[in-house]
Amino acid sequence: MALSPALRKRVLDHITPTPKELAQEQAFAAQFADQLQSLKGPHVDVVLAGSLSRNTHLAGDRDMDFFVRYSTEMDRETFEKEGLALAKKSFGKNPYQVAYSEHPYVKGVINGFEVEVVPCYAIDSVEQKQSSVDRTVLHTQYLQRKLLPAHLPEIRLLKKWLKGIGCYGADLHAHAVPGIVAEILVVQFGTFEQVLEELSRMKLHHVIDLEQHFDVDKAQQKFDPAPLIVIDPIDPNRNVAAALSLEVMAKIITASHRFLQKPSLNYFFPPQEKPLTGKQLAALAEKEGLIVAVLPYPKGALSDEVWGQIHRFDRKMVSILQEKSFIVERHDAWTDETKHLLFVWELQDAVLGKAQRRVGPPIWHTKHVQQFLNTHKKVVTGPRIENDRVVVETMREVVDAVSYLQQELPIIGKKETTHLKTALSKKPLILQGKKLVSFYQQNKNIQTYLTHYAKGKDAFFEW
Ligand code: CTP
Ligand code: MG
Repeated sequence: MALSPALRKRVLDHITPTPKELAQEQAFAAQFADQLQSLKGPHVDVVLAGSLSRNTHLAGDRDMDFFVRYSTEMDRETFEKEGLALAKKSFGKNPYQVAYSEHPYVKGVINGFEVEVVPCYAIDSVEQKQSSVDRTVLHTQYLQRKLLPAHLPEIRLLKKWLKGIGCYGADLHAHAVPGIVAEILVVQFGTFEQVLEELSRMKLHHVIDLEQHFDVDKAQQKFDPAPLIVIDPIDPNRNVAAALSLEVMAKIITASHRFLQKPSLNYFFPPQEKPLTGKQLAALAEKEGLIVAVLPYPKGALSDEVWGQIHRFDRKMVSILQEKSFIVERHDAWTDETKHLLFVWELQDAVLGKAQRRVGPPIWHTKHVQQFLNTHKKVVTGPRIENDRVVVETMREVVDAVSYLQQELPIIGKKETTHLKTALSKKPLILQGKKLVSFYQQNKNIQTYLTHYAKGKDAFFEW
């Protein structure tokens, strides 16, 4: 079933910037680009990139990406120095922050716009690229050529739809679909509905290759094991959808299937999830066996860096818990990017039995059996033969997950070289049961997240 014309219009009315908004954005962009251009320095020119330059941004989106281009003749050190100095200067008295990808750039707020000023090299084709952000201007030029006026509303619908199911964005931690992929999908398939039709039937490792750089087999081999392969039209060596995870891809396929069966405005404007009451959270947390570690957000840390680091730390902690025989059924890491970092674990049992069964080698391997017996001298029961193996039960070193985390996290933190080291320099709060509920009730900033986690439900299943 397609989206009815009436629904389509209602969504578009909300997500298309008004002519007044567009005029303001364009006037500001032109004026700021001129001002940047006229600052003293060896730059070649200034290019507005990103969705605003192609009129594919959503109403209310305030981000603007300016690329200051330098000659490829310029050496890297001068380029970085000049670029950073110019970018800083362009913000005048407005607040800004220096951020780093491969080299420094600057972001800040001017007139309510979230402005990024990114130095890059001026190139005509990707072979001349010296920094990965050099591609962005080529994308802008390519898409400005390819996009038809009819594509623009379709792209906005697709972006908003993806956003509604929580699968949109270029932030690496989101593992989601970046804007440029939404644009490429619409160029390839024509309309929002057609894109969803295709997505709903899509199998893993599907290849989208606008410029037909490769045969499908070759592309799949080259970008194995990416769940979706979208060849960068201006750089055949790159999958623009590389950050998309299997899980997000699977969500998109499921949601598009369900949407086509029963289109609903909820996908575009998801109803706000009401935070659980303390009592509701207590009941769920008890059934799930939730344990939450609360750490302070490391002051001044860049959120992009922190997200990457907490996801890595999350995986590390899972293997540490598993080593101690805890069965981790679900886990996650989250931050509000200002006050708190949270790690959440759902353990099958937070307290393990005191004795641990250890199954040794088959009795036929006499030498190994002897080694096994030598290593396990202090036993609770055994040694005995079960079937053809030697078995003992020993005392567990760790039985209680909460006290283990309490004791171990600061020790693990000391070995970290990331922002986690700072976050773990004070004793973390390890919360469960009543303590978790009272923290939940006192901290509004974590309620939406913990509600979502505790419910563990993809909202589109009820739309
Ligand atoms: N980009 C890229 N590959 C990605 C993400 C981003 O090459 N995986 C480049 C693209 O050239 C993109 C630009 O970075 O146009 C800016 O990215 P971003 O601001 O995240 O997205 P927009 O395309 O501007 O979309 P929107 O802001 O509307 O979400
Ligand atoms: Mg953008």
